[in-house]
Amino acid sequence: MSEPTSAAAGAVAVAPPQDRPVLLRVRDLAVDFKVPVKGSLRAARLRAVAGVDLDVHRGEILGVVGESGCGKSTTGRAILQLLKPSEGTVAFDGVELTTLARGRMRAMRRRMQMIFQDPYASLNPRMTIGELIEEPLLVHSDATARERRAKALETMRLVGVSPHWHERYPHELSGGQRQRVGIARALVSNPEFIVADEPVSALDVSIQAQIVNLLESLQEELGLTMMFIGHDLAVVRHLCDRIAVMYLGTVVEIGDCESLYTRPRHPYTQALLSAVPIPDPLVEAERRRRILKGDVPSPLNPPTGCRFRTRCWKAQEICGTQVPALTAESTGHQVACHFPEEPGPESPAGT
Ligand SMILES: Nc1ncnc2c1ncn2[C@@H]1O[C@H](COP(=O)(O)OP(=O)(O)OP(=O)(O)O)[C@@H](O)[C@H]1O
Ligand code: SF4
Ligand SMILES: [Mg+2]
Repeated sequence: MSEPTSAAAGAVAVAPPQDRPVLLRVRDLAVDFKVPVKGSLRAARLRAVAGVDLDVHRGEILGVVGESGCGKSTTGRAILQLLKPSEGTVAFDGVELTTLARGRMRAMRRRMQMIFQDPYASLNPRMTIGELIEEPLLVHSDATARERRAKALETMRLVGVSPHWHERYPHELSGGQRQRVGIARALVSNPEFIVADEPVSALDVSIQAQIVNLLESLQEELGLTMMFIGHDLAVVRHLCDRIAVMYLGTVVEIGDCESLYTRPRHPYTQALLSAVPIPDPLVEAERRRRILKGDVPSPLNPPTGCRFRTRCWKAQEICGTQVPALTAESTGHQVACHFPEEPGPESPAGT
């Protein structure tokens, strides 16, 4: 990009991401949905996100992982105020978003954007690629038509979409190219913070690496701060600085990528990572697997105390009566468990 972005200013910092200032502070975030009850006119309350605390530091990529339905997308959307949180606070660069007047929130939106999972569904098929990429500028800036076009072309080059595609339509592009257009739409207004919600899951395996590499280079080049929601633990490990593990609407563990993978402390994290094969056959043969038993309970009727207790091999009485707080450990992790696992040689993801 020829003009420096406000985000680019953050790129010069050399401190590890977790030592940099906090850009996004989420506290006690809860999101409820009303869902119909069979045979009743009453609606039930489904708490999809329950008491989430997260800090995202300037210039870092925070990965968010967990089984399907654990609340990753809902958390990302509630942070961007695309869904209204039921409880809790979301402070972005010191500005509380949950109580912000609509006009001021619109101005903040330019600084926070989302990349969606499905590049097919997220692009209006009746708009040209140029119109799609210029649209956020129409909403978030006073740029003239000429300026919008110049900025769209510049952003297309940045994400590897040929300027020749400016007048074409989404159906003429491959899946990977469409996701690049989705990324261009997110970047064109020079945001500082991006929520990327499973941005490669809908793509062919051969294309996934290209898009992950693109996100990695853009993050470095623009100094972006990112929340990367993913289910491929190898991709998340490759891309992210820190990882938050979610279970049934709550964050159970946060740690820097390397130590979380090699020394997970929460029993659920151990089980989740235990499913990931280790390339070394000797280590793979030696390690102990934790196979999760039973299904994830319904968020309509979650277990009391620790939400993981119905599947946890370490559960004791206190786990049913007291919600474990997310507390900082000497390892640098934050863990929500009354009896965190000791990191040891048999640690599921340990080498
Ligand atoms: N609009 C909605 N109305 C009712 N329930 C919803 C709605 N959106 C999500 N949910 C429920 O909230 C919970 C969390 O859903 P969410 O989509 O955030 O999970 P996720 O971790 O992103 O899952 P996935 O990995 O499948 O994308 C699930 O139980 C889901 O069924
Ligand atoms: S708090 Fe108890 S039930 Fe929950 S993960 Fe820890 S040991 Fe298991
Ligand atoms: Mg999701």
